Amino acid sequence: MSETNEAKPDTPSTGPPKAFDVAAIRADFPILSQLQTTSDGSKKRLVFLDSAASSQRPNQVLDAMDEVYKTGYANVHRGVYQLAERATNAYEGGRKKIARFIGAPDAAEVIFTKNATESLNLVAGSWGRQNLGPGDAVLITMLEHHANIVPWQMLAAEKEFEIRWVPVNEGGELILDTLDQLLDGVKLFSFTAMSNVTGTLTPVRRLVDAAHAKGALACVDACQAVPHQPVDVTEWDADFVAFSGHKMLGPSGIGVLWGRRELLEDMPPFLGGGGMILNVTTEGFIPDGLPGKFEAGTPPIVESAGLGAAVDYLSTLGMEAVRQHEIELTAYAMRSLTEALGEGLTIHGPSEPAARGGVLSLTLDDVHAHDISQILDESAVCIRPGHHCAKPLMRHFGVSATARASLYIYNDTDDLDALTEALVKARKFFAL
Ligand code: ALA
Repeated sequence: MSETNEAKPDTPSTGPPKAFDVAAIRADFPILSQLQTTSDGSKKRLVFLDSAASSQRPNQVLDAMDEVYKTGYANVHRGVYQLAERATNAYEGGRKKIARFIGAPDAAEVIFTKNATESLNLVAGSWGRQNLGPGDAVLITMLEHHANIVPWQMLAAEKEFEIRWVPVNEGGELILDTLDQLLDGVKLFSFTAMSNVTGTLTPVRRLVDAAHAKGALACVDACQAVPHQPVDVTEWDADFVAFSGHKMLGPSGIGVLWGRRELLEDMPPFLGGGGMILNVTTEGFIPDGLPGKFEAGTPPIVESAGLGAAVDYLSTLGMEAVRQHEIELTAYAMRSLTEALGEGLTIHGPSEPAARGGVLSLTLDDVHAHDISQILDESAVCIRPGHHCAKPLMRHFGVSATARASLYIYNDTDDLDALTEALVKARKFFAL
């Protein structure tokens, strides 16, 4: 029997076009057309199932960045020559597109950072350092990525506030029975919208409302949510929202912090240097207004143009359609993996596909996740093994690592069949 990702000559597609045309999408991603040579010398189609770590990017994004580098590159907000103005327009144009994509009322509330980790560090290092002290508390959840844990722990060591945790059940869902008590005396509730380990979707609006009812601010780590579902920061009613460009078809090196204007205006700068000041004297400095106050140094100019093209691409597909595609694939994957692997397979997280994003963290018998991933690489199937930068959650599940397959717009059921076949092979290999 030939394998599902055995390299085959291209065959013209037949039949009616599908609503969500994965073949057409894949054709936009040059990296996905490459073949991987395996140890027996055969060539296999690349099956990329690691988009929760970082997605791939389409020609439209690569071309947009290429165009800035080739025809419109200079530093921004500095030069008065035409080239510099074109670069500034490309940079600010990206900001406007991203603001529209997330429903931000004002593009000046969109702050460019290096990634979501830096965005969360900005909230901790600026708002947190200004507002937290002994007797205060910050609430986070057991689902969090280290990026939404460690910045608070670092600041708590300095400012001596308390960190509280919303517990999680065996199904990877937040236990919210005691949320109101946990929120007593809390100044900020910072939580993920979608777990990068279990795909658990959290009830963002409900959590924001609960925080506000207790006088706390709400900060959402939307790193796994913005790429995969419609997000409107106004509908969420959040105070801060953080995400990265590289997980949503954009380049690495750019992240976003959206914040409410009045909060951002009151916050001190996070990093100091060029571009973030109105004036500097020997006595001190006056910070710039938004968004410049938080964008010290040369910013991610070309990356903004690339991220703008990425949100154009996603908007053309429609985020509702992206979400629906991932629910269908997740349901297919959960069904086919369970049928093929049965006992010994654990898929961590909610059992209902619609309650989770396209993230499948697996443990199989007692095979280590790293061994599974290496065997899968023999079949050109790319997944991520490890703790996924969420060690408290891994400890809660009693595992040190999982093998995580994560889905995106360019994946289809063939990819999931290849994953299942490769896992069956891995099990046979380790049973020897
Ligand atoms: N945060 C990324 C992940 O979950 C790197 O894999």
